[in-house]
Amino acid sequence: MNQASRRRHHYHLMTMYSNPSARKWKSEYTTDPSILPFHQTLPNYGPTPLCPLPQIATNLEAHKVLIKDESRRFGLPAYKILGASWAVYRTVTRELDLPSTASLEEVKAAAGDKGFEYYTATDGNWGRAVARMASMLGAKAHVYVPKVMLETTKKKIAHEGAEVIVVDGDYDGAVKEAERIGKEKRGLFIADIAWEWYQEIPQWVVDGYSTMMVEIDQQTEELVGRRPDLVVCPVGAGSLAEAVVVHYKHAVPSSAVLTVEPDTAACLMTSLEAGKIVSISTKDTSMCGLNCGTVTFTAWPSLRDGVDAHVTVTDEEAKVAEETLAEMGILIGPCGAATLAGLTKACKEGKDEIYLNRDSVVVLLGTEAPRGAALDMA
Ligand SMILES: Cc1ncc(COP(=O)(O)O)c(C=O)c1O
Repeated sequence: MNQASRRRHHYHLMTMYSNPSARKWKSEYTTDPSILPFHQTLPNYGPTPLCPLPQIATNLEAHKVLIKDESRRFGLPAYKILGASWAVYRTVTRELDLPSTASLEEVKAAAGDKGFEYYTATDGNWGRAVARMASMLGAKAHVYVPKVMLETTKKKIAHEGAEVIVVDGDYDGAVKEAERIGKEKRGLFIADIAWEWYQEIPQWVVDGYSTMMVEIDQQTEELVGRRPDLVVCPVGAGSLAEAVVVHYKHAVPSSAVLTVEPDTAACLMTSLEAGKIVSISTKDTSMCGLNCGTVTFTAWPSLRDGVDAHVTVTDEEAKVAEETLAEMGILIGPCGAATLAGLTKACKEGKDEIYLNRDSVVVLLGTEAPRGAALDMA
């Protein structure tokens, strides 16, 4: 790690962090090759679309800008089910001492009357994904949610067959309660955030996200004959960004990674500047899924060393990006649209630091459906 080579720009109110040494940094991490075949066995599997944004490419003087549309992943309005499904499956196969190639039917049959129950916490998409996976395995999920959660969101989670428990507190309080009760009831606690004492399951969540990258590579290979040059990823606690970094910094040649988070929940920016994980208190943001105050423990070394550049965006910038995409017929919610806002900002502040030129193929991770649509989906 070379602290001296890290740069942060302050022009007017704009902020960008860059790490030139990430360009040559290699990830040694490899993911389990059974993940994509596993996802392919789940009902309604299909690669999500990679949509071209020709006008954006022209405006930003890039060869191609594409958005990975995760607004309908397995019929759910976000990508989270990729990680939730693999993490639940690996947890139960571990409990049953089965290999990571066992079929869903084999697992379900072996789990039989063992009475596995899953405990998790969520601010929306994650809990619904865990609940969906639990019901696929014939098991019960108990989903702890913060006090402020919308009734419609709670109903969607309950509709998956889960018990929804409202905690008198925020998301962090819900996580603590899910972990405490899960332990008390000898259930399986499934979280998408890691701490020093809880790493294996969140790592499976990250591993599960690798399917998105494998699909992107196949899609860009078909479109332009190679992998993307730059991938832009939204950051909450950083699990998805970890999946992006380990995949694209393992590949040869590697791709550049730009990460984006809300200016009101800039836990990665704060940690990158400090050179260590620093927890912050966050403020409300329209980018709800990105409202996290602490970088997930397992992601930190990869993000510290492998993120080429990082920007923060405002709610207003995410809204403009969401509207711009909608005008182009691409319906993506604020967390996913934040990538377009971040790319636009990075192009103004430091195009060289994201290695963007007229030959570049850029992929934005459009991680969710627009809010209304997310709530309306069956
Ligand atoms: C829609 C959406 N996009 C992106 C993220 C960021 O994910 P992570 O917490 O892995 O950084 C989240 C997290 O909840 C999300 O819900």
